[in-house]
Parts: sequence; C-alpha cells; structure tokens
Amino acid sequence: MMSSVHLNRLPQHVAIIMDGNGRWAKRRGLPRLAGHKQGATNAQRVVEIFTEYGISYLTLYAFSTENWNRPQAEVNGLLQLLEKKLDEGVKLAQEKGIKIRHLGKLDGLSPEIQHRIKQALELTQNNTGMTISLAFNYGGRDEIVEVMRRLILSGIPAQKIDESIVSQYLYTAGIPDPDLIIRTGGESRLSNFLTWQAAYAEIYFTPVLWPDFDRREIDKALIFYRQRQRRFGSVAPE
Ligand code: FPP
Repeated sequence: MMSSVHLNRLPQHVAIIMDGNGRWAKRRGLPRLAGHKQGATNAQRVVEIFTEYGISYLTLYAFSTENWNRPQAEVNGLLQLLEKKLDEGVKLAQEKGIKIRHLGKLDGLSPEIQHRIKQALELTQNNTGMTISLAFNYGGRDEIVEVMRRLILSGIPAQKIDESIVSQYLYTAGIPDPDLIIRTGGESRLSNFLTWQAAYAEIYFTPVLWPDFDRREIDKALIFYRQRQRRFGSVAPE
C-alpha cells in the first residue's frame, strides 16, 4: 500500500549503492553469488516500487571498475547475472515504459554483453516513463577522466569549458543530478559513485543489507529525504 509519505517532496532522481549481498549470503551459509542473485531479484522489486511512486530517475550501481579485482568466479557470476537480468529487464521496461541507460565503460566487457547492453538501450530509447541508469563497469573518477579526454578530442577551447559543458560530457548527460543517494550494507562512503553528480545530493546510509532493502526501508529513506528538504525549506525553491 502506498503511504501518504510519498505524495509530496519526492526526490526526482534516486541513486543506490546496492551493498551487502555477500554478507546476506554468508549469514545463511550460502555462496556469495546466491547473495547477488537475491540482490538482483531485489533490484527488480525496488524498480517496481519506485515506478509505482512515480520517481523519474533511478540509478543502480551494479558493478564498479574496482569489482574486477574480486575472485574470477564471482566476477563471472556477476557478468552472467547481468546478461540474464538485462533480458528480463528489457521485458519489464517495455511493459512499464522504462528507458534504460548505461553508465560506464563498454570497453573491457565481452562483445556479447556489449551487444546486450546496446540492444537494451536501443529497444527502450523511446520509452517515456522512468529512466533507469545501470552503472556497470562504472567509476566516478574514470568518468571524469573520460570527460577530459572527450573534451580535448572535441577541440573545445579551454576558456569555453564550464560546469554545464562538463555535465554534457558525463555518462549521465541529460539526466539531472541525484537528489538522494542511498547506500545499503552499513558503509558510510560513496566508493567512487557519481563523484561529480553527488555534489549536492542528500545521502542516506543504512545498515540493512541490499537483499533485505524492501518497501518499508524505501519508505524510511524517502522520509529521511523529506525531512532534510524540510530543514532547508526556507532556502529551497518550492
Ligand atoms: C555489493 O555487495 C554488490 C555488488 C558488488 C553487486 C551488485 C549487483 C547486484 C545487486 C546484482 C546485479 C544487478 C543487476 C541489476 C544486473 P557485496 O558483494 O560487496 O556485499 P558484501 O559487502 O556483503 O560483501
């Protein structure tokens, strides 16, 4: 049931660091990959809830440029999971009018995964509902370095470069900065996520492990956001 909490002062863009899958599995005596599977199932559930609440932009951190350092079996498992979830995700996206975007480097991913990502973007590009950005093979510093390269290659004169131009060269071009960043799993850091875009975001840390992050926990995060907005209400535009 939708509570009244969601009817006003909702963030337009929510970005999530989905942490704690490994510990969720370990606590049940399961392999880490079982945690990621449950995490992926939860990502789907969370997408449905945010669609219901009318959030316009949702960004999910699924794989960082640092995640390649994990054991090979876990990396392979995460890549396989992505392939499978992309197929299911496109179906769900078409049903709900969701547009899928990718944040990160395609280089370094297998041709098969690159193809599937490109296909997911193409098939959903004209959808007009929520935009879901999947950060996969993404790093915030890497993104800024990439912007510098692109700016130099484009030949824009140095004196013309400003914040608005940089924003247009980010992976998130055209997407407003996140209003609320949620990190599950108990750590209080951003871990190279949306380094440029996070400048003014409210940040919500919760010890809840990602597979357990359900509607009730979403509501808590949205209440936190609403309260933060209220505190600065006198200066925030209505
Ligand atoms: C962090 O948990 C989670 C990840 C590195 C991967 C997140 C991936 C998913 C939720 C599944 C893929 C989702 C999609 C939408 C394709 P952790 O392994 O760091 O957990 P721990 O801190 O308990 O070890």
